[in-house]
Amino acid sequence: MTSPPLPARLSVVVPCFNERANVAPLVARLEAALAGIAWEAVFVDDNSPDGTAAAARAIAARDPRIRCLRRIGRRGLSSAVIEGALSSSAEFVAVIDGDMQHDETRLPLMLTRLAAGEGDIAIGTRYAKGGDAGGLAGGFRQRLSRLGIAFAQLFLPSPVSDPMSGFFMMRREHFEEIAPRLAGSGFKILLDLLFNARPPLKVIEIPYEFRARAFGESKLDALVLAQFAGLLIDRVLHGAVPLRFIAFSGVGLVGVIANLAALAAGRALGLGFSPAQAIATVIAMVVNFQLNNSLTYRDQRLRGARLWRGLALFLLFCGIGAVADLGIARTLYEDHNSLTVSGAAGAIVAVVWNYAISATLVWRTR
Ligand code: GDD
Ligand code: MN
Repeated sequence: MTSPPLPARLSVVVPCFNERANVAPLVARLEAALAGIAWEAVFVDDNSPDGTAAAARAIAARDPRIRCLRRIGRRGLSSAVIEGALSSSAEFVAVIDGDMQHDETRLPLMLTRLAAGEGDIAIGTRYAKGGDAGGLAGGFRQRLSRLGIAFAQLFLPSPVSDPMSGFFMMRREHFEEIAPRLAGSGFKILLDLLFNARPPLKVIEIPYEFRARAFGESKLDALVLAQFAGLLIDRVLHGAVPLRFIAFSGVGLVGVIANLAALAAGRALGLGFSPAQAIATVIAMVVNFQLNNSLTYRDQRLRGARLWRGLALFLLFCGIGAVADLGIARTLYEDHNSLTVSGAAGAIVAVVWNYAISATLVWRTR
């Protein structure tokens, strides 16, 4: 009879997407860094096509400290971190990227300082004395990162040198208490935690050197940045309006511009107002559908046959909304100066209607 392994004191949550080549080396590094600590690692993989989950399970099959959480039909760094942390029963949870860009040798220091009661959250920072953002690919990424930080700083209760960090540790019970209030979308789980903790978290800053990526590529792209903007808007509105509705409305605005541009093009080609507007409306709806599918509902993105079914539903029901919208386009087109109150009301009715249909019929949560 062998006795069961000791329960972990520290759970290391590793969000990963297409990180197969990094899994085994990362486990080896954690093992070296966390010697003497009862730890476990939870790899949260969003069904990566490269077989990341299988790589994690292969290790888990011989090492009980390793677990793999494989999520299907969803994407997102923040929600992966939340689910990984909530799957843990350890006293402390840490979050670290699965690409070895974060310095795992800082974990014991984070644990010691948290356990000593020096603060509520230990944050790995690239921007305090002793830290280094050298591994950020290119000057553009560096400037972008600094700009985002300066912006986020405006909304934080107390200064944090690296609020975009994806490398931090806190008590699991504390995380659980904040979890129901987290927006959970996009990349910025730390910012989300800092915004939603009541009272504000007392921060311990742990400088580290951000390493260059060895294998694979970054998943941070324009859509991720748009989600970041959404998180800040949400902060300004104090959560009064759902984030999805904000994204949906932003997309709708792009649709209106697409509509007007297509209408002008149709008219220039000699089409009458009504046929030009009809074609422009369909173009705008397709643009809206595509943007909503890849941005607003990124986590439930429709593909293949479901995509076509979704598009058909969207065109059908939003077409009804478009009839309400038609009046506005007409007024704008025929008389530039009469953006009337009734026109604005028409747009609001249309966007609420479209949103209701989208949320319930087109991208309904499975
Ligand atoms: N499960 C899951 N789902 N994991 C994801 C997803 C996703 O949709 N997107 C990214 N990840 C994982 C990656 O596999 C990686 O382990 C980690 O999250 C960070 O993603 P990267 O694509 O490597 O991001 P980065 O290096 O550009 O950004 C990192 O540095 C930023 C600061 O510059 C992250 O740590 C960010 O959180 C941090 O803000
Ligand atoms: Mn990375």
